[in-house]
Amino acid sequence: MGLIERAGAVLEPESDGPNAAANDLAIVRPEAFDIDFGALAAHGYYNSADRSSRLSLELRAAKRALLRRTGLRNAAGERKLVRKGGRQRNLVLFTSARPGEGKTFCAINLALSLACEDDVEVLLVDADAPRPKVRALFGLGESRGLSDCLADPDLVPEGLFLKARQAPLCVLPEGRETGRPAELLAGPDAQRFFTALSTAAPGRLVLIDAPPMLATAEAAMLARHVDEVVFVVQAGETPAAAVASALDEVLEANQNVSLLLNRCLIGEAGSYYGSYEDYDRNAAPAGLSKGAGILRGSTDG
Ligand SMILES: Nc1ncnc2c1ncn2[C@@H]1O[C@H](COP(=O)(O)OP(=O)(O)OP(=O)(O)O)[C@@H](O)[C@H]1O
Ligand SMILES: [Mg+2]
Repeated sequence: MGLIERAGAVLEPESDGPNAAANDLAIVRPEAFDIDFGALAAHGYYNSADRSSRLSLELRAAKRALLRRTGLRNAAGERKLVRKGGRQRNLVLFTSARPGEGKTFCAINLALSLACEDDVEVLLVDADAPRPKVRALFGLGESRGLSDCLADPDLVPEGLFLKARQAPLCVLPEGRETGRPAELLAGPDAQRFFTALSTAAPGRLVLIDAPPMLATAEAAMLARHVDEVVFVVQAGETPAAAVASALDEVLEANQNVSLLLNRCLIGEAGSYYGSYEDYDRNAAPAGLSKGAGILRGSTDG
């Protein structure tokens, strides 16, 4: 049986019959990689071997809210039946007002936690063309990815996925530099691409790591293509005016926005992740009233 190398993945013919080598008969088998939990933990990320850590517990609260909002779980946390065909609410964008607020941190941690603990199939997409970080954090080399898919609608996205061996998690890297990320996201093929990502696997959550709202136009463009936006706010750092102005822009593009408060110190234990309850009680930035929800957690310090 012959193997055809294409699009960074291995395409495996369905049978050894006369047409076995034809591309349209090929099954795409994504390239596999090992998640180095030790290396991730050294950067403060989720570690599947330490599920009782404060971070794991706090991620659980955010996950529950996310699964409910995307319709994959009901309020009791039970898995909901997903329709076979058609669009689901499974595309989730992570953005923030300013750089460095923890978008990548939250997206990767939620992806790992969902895949490792809940057996939810996750696709993590690096859509931050100016500052892609997902590949480096997983120790992955350069390869084709999102930009290539947007530039060439004939590419099979699954062929560019990098698949973790230990959990149902795939990564779609940022792809090659095109110098025209905004143009590609505004093009007619972008919506088709994201719709195809959603429908290809209705039970799969697609977590998209985006640039900040106030630095580029791309985040707002991406927000138009997704079902849910998780707006990350760095506790005590981002001025309320910056949050309000960025939220205004997000809400113009997408009304389904949740806030995730990051790097929040609560109580004497000094939790360093998000307390969504706390955020609710304290002064919320202007703009919240326009329809943003809060990914509610159970942590109270
Ligand atoms: N809750 C947290 N606990 C510990 N470290 C954190 C936390 N949140 C973020 N960090 C660290 O802060 C730095 C910035 O975070 P991150 O890269 O996720 O921000 P970002 O919003 O994605 O930035 P950019 O806009 O540049 O993409 C990283 O080194 C990250 O590991
Ligand atoms: Mg980032």
